[in-house]
Amino acid sequence: MDRRRFVTATTVGLGLAALRPAIAASGKESAARGQSRVIIDTDPGVDDAFALLLAMCSSQLHIEAITAVAGNVPLELTLPNALRMVEIAGRTDIPVAAGARAPLLRRLVTAAYAHGENGLGGAVFAEPKRTPVAESAADLIQKIVRKYPGEITLITLGPQTNIATALNADPGLAPLVRSVVMMGGSLSGGNITPAAEFNVYVDPEAARIVFQSGIPITMVGLDVTRKTTLTDQHVATLAAHDNPVSQAAALIGRNSLAHHRAQGLPSGPNMHDSVAVAAFLDPAIVTTEPFYVDVETGGELTAGETLGYRVPHAPPQPPVRGSAPLLGSLKSSPILRERPEPNAHVALDLDAAAFFELLIGRLSAGA
Ligand code: BDR
Ligand code: CA
Repeated sequence: MDRRRFVTATTVGLGLAALRPAIAASGKESAARGQSRVIIDTDPGVDDAFALLLAMCSSQLHIEAITAVAGNVPLELTLPNALRMVEIAGRTDIPVAAGARAPLLRRLVTAAYAHGENGLGGAVFAEPKRTPVAESAADLIQKIVRKYPGEITLITLGPQTNIATALNADPGLAPLVRSVVMMGGSLSGGNITPAAEFNVYVDPEAARIVFQSGIPITMVGLDVTRKTTLTDQHVATLAAHDNPVSQAAALIGRNSLAHHRAQGLPSGPNMHDSVAVAAFLDPAIVTTEPFYVDVETGGELTAGETLGYRVPHAPPQPPVRGSAPLLGSLKSSPILRERPEPNAHVALDLDAAAFFELLIGRLSAGA
């Protein structure tokens, strides 16, 4: 993709006012209202639940669909958890679709240790009354992107399995996606292994497909999301507001803090996924730099690691080089990419105070 299109598409996707006319020019109803069309792909998940509620409390977003994927807990739990959030926010107009039960090529690894057995830190809500739409997540993503070519931003909060499945099924889809804003990856070490962030670790092959798709990507990874810890004070503020969203967030937050303490963890949960939503709502919350990002898929210890090549690099631009060849194979180390072009804006810094003001403020106000 040419660099100008990359920058434009990404920043328009992030809702920068100066570039809004590019959206309004489409003449679509949402654009006229200054809204951005998004699909949220998610594996709720404590921080996913907060992120979904934040998105549904944000009038800048026209949420075309919520698609569930297996990740933090199995799909049997992430799907009803997504439906619960839609009901709590009173947004049952948003279609919710069931996605992949397992990564593309691997067995599912979950994170119940962090999110509790039910994915919501042990917070109990009624069974949802809503049911998912009949289409699969990947089918629904294709349908919506094709309906609004160049308009849809995919906000991805879990493993990239559903997105990769949609891209694999429809090779013409990627150029029609405005941008991806992903919670995933890290250029500063992982959280499930020293190398890998959880979402990319669970399905590294899917993440690689997305990074190599040519879609403009904003990578909101652990480099910034680690700086967001939910506290008792945040929960107290949420609990003091009498609306269903604020009360639900307080309940999930209180349970998650208790779950973290019971596990002997020194602090509360990070609000990883809400940072991705917040960065879309207000790009000034994060500071990004362009990188060529690739995903390690072959490592015995490092699968799911995201590697960032800083580009443009002072000349001569070094190539992307593979590992040293084994005896008896190649004569020299393989050059995987002669001249890497940026494929992602990576968030490297965060205004944590502004982030929590946005998150707690909007959840307190309710949907
Ligand atoms: C990511 O992994 C999950 O546990 C969280 O929901 C978040 O999406 C953080 O590594
Ligand atoms: Ca998640």
